[in-house]
Parts: sequence; C-alpha cells; structure tokens
Amino acid sequence: MRNVFLIVASIVCVACSESDSETENRPKTYVDSELFSLARAGDFAFYKNNPDTLPFTIGGGGHSGFIRVKFNPIAANALVDSGKLPLGSKFPNGSLVVKEIYNGRGDSLIFLAVMLKNSVATNAAQNWVWGEYYADGRVLWPVNRGADCVPCHSLTSATSNVPGDLGHRDFVRTFGLRP
Ligand code: HEC
Repeated sequence: MRNVFLIVASIVCVACSESDSETENRPKTYVDSELFSLARAGDFAFYKNNPDTLPFTIGGGGHSGFIRVKFNPIAANALVDSGKLPLGSKFPNGSLVVKEIYNGRGDSLIFLAVMLKNSVATNAAQNWVWGEYYADGRVLWPVNRGADCVPCHSLTSATSNVPGDLGHRDFVRTFGLRP
C-alpha cells in the first residue's frame, strides 16, 4: 500500500512540474533547447494579427529579409494599446516574443529570434532571456549572451538611427517601428 502511495505521489509531482514550465517565477537557468522549443511550437498571435511576412526595417540592424513577430497568450494579453504594449508598461513574467526570419516572402523559415520575460532567470539580461536559433534548432546566438542583444533593443526615439522610430517599449522594438 505504501508503494502505491509513493508511485501516485510521484506521478502527481511530475505532472505539476511540467504544467508551469512557461510561466514559473522561480529562479532558473534557461538552456537553448528549451528556449527554442518554446518559440517553435505553441499558441501565438501575430503582431496586429497580421500573418504576412513583412520586410525587416531598413537600418534597424539585427537581420535582413522578411519577418513576422508573434506573441504567446501571456504577452498578447498585455497588448492593450491598439495592439501595442502601453507606453511605460512592462510585460508580465512568462511573456514570449518571437521574431520569425525569412529570406523572402513565402520562403521557409530560417531563423527564430526569441525574448522570454523572466525577471528571476539567472541568465536574463534586463529581465528578458534572449536567444537566436536556426529553424532546425541549431544555435545562432546562445542564451547566455543576451546582454549583446540589449543595446540595440534599448534604443529610444532620441537614440535610434531609424527615421520615425518611436523607440522600444520594454525592449521590444516593433512597437516603435511599425504602425
Ligand atoms: C543592431 C540592432 C539589433 C540587435 C543587435 C538585435 N536586434 Fe532584435 N530587433 C531589432 C529590430 C530593429 C527589431 C524590429 C524588427 C523590424 O522591425 O525589422 C528587432 C526585433 C526583435 C524581436 C521581435 C520583438 C521586437 O523587439 O520587435 C526579437 C524577439 C528579437 N529582435 C530578438 C533579438 C535577439 C535575441 C537578439 C540578440 C541575439 C537581438 N534581437 C539583437 C534590432 C536588433
């Protein structure tokens, strides 16, 4: 009888530890495979609900080609200012923002750039965990070097060199660059 109890208890425990992997607020160190899996599959809404691949911002840096930006439900719920994060607001922990990168319109995916909000992650930079991956999961920019992504994602209307850029909102550039 005691063994049965232990088995049941351990099954319940495995189930609970898996269910909160995306939203947990406990200190944790992310690895690339986990960040990639979160970004590759799951429920997402595209920016302004527009599923088109759009030309990347000229002079914005980071990449070339075509992009789509998508948000998981936690992040999407924060987009209450006409599809944008309100000025001065922060995304809640568990928010996931992903940039899909394509060579051309309608081509297959080549890279995923990922930002996961977790203010207590040991490898967060400015409360976000950052990484970039090839479509097959190979690492382009490793999760422990997120500090390299921050300077460009901190640009404001005053410091950006892109004409008309209104600046980042909680380190997300799209809001300032795209209507
Ligand atoms: C030289 C500037 C620059 C650097 C460095 C950079 N990015 Fe970006 N990133 C941008 C710009 C500009 C956009 C907006 C895309 C557009 O409009 O073309 C963007 C968009 C994104 C997005 C979509 C959300 C948003 O901010 O709009 C993610 C996710 C992202 N980048 C991740 C990363 C990661 C991860 C790194 C580091 C490995 C990184 N970026 C480094 C310029 C940069």
